[in-house]
Amino acid sequence: MTTYDIALIGFGGVNRTLAELIATRGETLHTDLGFGLRVVAITDLRLGSLVQPEGIDLSIALKLDGGSETFAKYGGSTDTNNESVIRSCTADIICEATFTNPDDGEPAVSHVRWALESGKSVCTTNKGPVALRGAELTALAEQNGVHFEFEGAVMSGTPVIRLAKKMFEGLKLNGFEGILNGTSNYVLGRMEAGLGLDAAIGEAQDLGYAEANPAADIEGYDVQLKVLILANELLDAGIELKDVQRQGISAVTPENIRKAASEGRRWKLVGAARRNPDGSVTAGVSPVALPLDHGLAGVSGATNAVSFDTDLLGAVTVSGPGAGRVETAYALLSDIIAMHAARTGVVANA
Ligand code: HSE
Repeated sequence: MTTYDIALIGFGGVNRTLAELIATRGETLHTDLGFGLRVVAITDLRLGSLVQPEGIDLSIALKLDGGSETFAKYGGSTDTNNESVIRSCTADIICEATFTNPDDGEPAVSHVRWALESGKSVCTTNKGPVALRGAELTALAEQNGVHFEFEGAVMSGTPVIRLAKKMFEGLKLNGFEGILNGTSNYVLGRMEAGLGLDAAIGEAQDLGYAEANPAADIEGYDVQLKVLILANELLDAGIELKDVQRQGISAVTPENIRKAASEGRRWKLVGAARRNPDGSVTAGVSPVALPLDHGLAGVSGATNAVSFDTDLLGAVTVSGPGAGRVETAYALLSDIIAMHAARTGVVANA
C-alpha cells in the first residue's frame, strides 16, 4: 500500500483539521482511498518547526493549541527556516495553508516554489499563490514532474474547479457569476436579521470563516482573488489582479438592507467574469441587490454558489460550502486524492 509523506506548512485551523482527520480516520482513509498519509514535518509561525522522517505523533502536535508551549522540547524540533525545512524534508507532498496575502502572495508563493523546485508536489488552500502566480507555479510543477493542486482556493472543499474543468469538456463557457465569500454572505444574512456589521463579523470569525484580516472578506479582496483564479483557470482569461474591479460590502447599510427587503430584493456580494465578443474578459466583484427570484438570492450563510453560463446547457450552478475548517481541510485531501489518481490511474472506490 502506498503511503504519502506530507509536510504541513502552517498549523492553523485548516492543516490542524487535516491532521485531526489523519489521526482519527487514517485507517478508513487507507481502506477507502488505497493510500496512507504520514506527517513528517510541521512548520508554524508560533509553534516553530518539527521534522520527524519516521512520522510525527499527531496526538502530541494537536495538543499544542493556543498555549505558550511550542515544538521546542520535542525531538525533531528545529530552528532552521521554512526554506530549509521545505527543501530538505522527506515529504512527497507539501500542504500549504498559511494566511493569504492578497498583495504579493508571500510567504506562500516562496513556500510553493521551494517545494516544487525540490521535487515535491504541493496542495494549497491559499489564494495568494494561485491567483497571483498560478501560471508560473503550474509551469514549475510541470518542469519538475510534480503536481500543483489548489481546489480549496475557491469554495473550500466544494470541488468547483475540478468539476468545472471536467464538466466543460465539449461546452463553451461564456462567463460566470457567483457568491464566493462565505464571511460576507454570512454577515449580510445576519445584518438582514438585525445584527450590526461588527457583531456579525465577530460571529463569522468564531465560526472559522473569516480571513486573518476580515477586511479581506468585507472589502471584496477575497472574492477578487477567487474571480481571478476562476477566470484564468476556466476562461483562460490571462488577466491580472488589477483587471478585476473590486467593491466590498462595507458601504451596505442596515437601511439599504431594509429598503431592498421592502422591494423584494436581497444584497449579495457577487463576483463575476464574462467573455466579450472580442475575446477579452471583463471581471469584477461588487454588492448587488438581487431580486428574490434570482438563483443566487437564496444562497445563505457560508454557502457559496457559482452559476456558469455555457453555450449548450445554459446556466449550470454549483453550490456548496465556501468556508470552514473541516470543509477546507477536505479540499487538501481531495487534492491528494487527485494526485494519487493521476499517478496511479486509480480512482478511489472505482
Ligand atoms: N474567508 C473566506 C470566506 C474563506 O469567508 O469565504 C474561504 O476562502
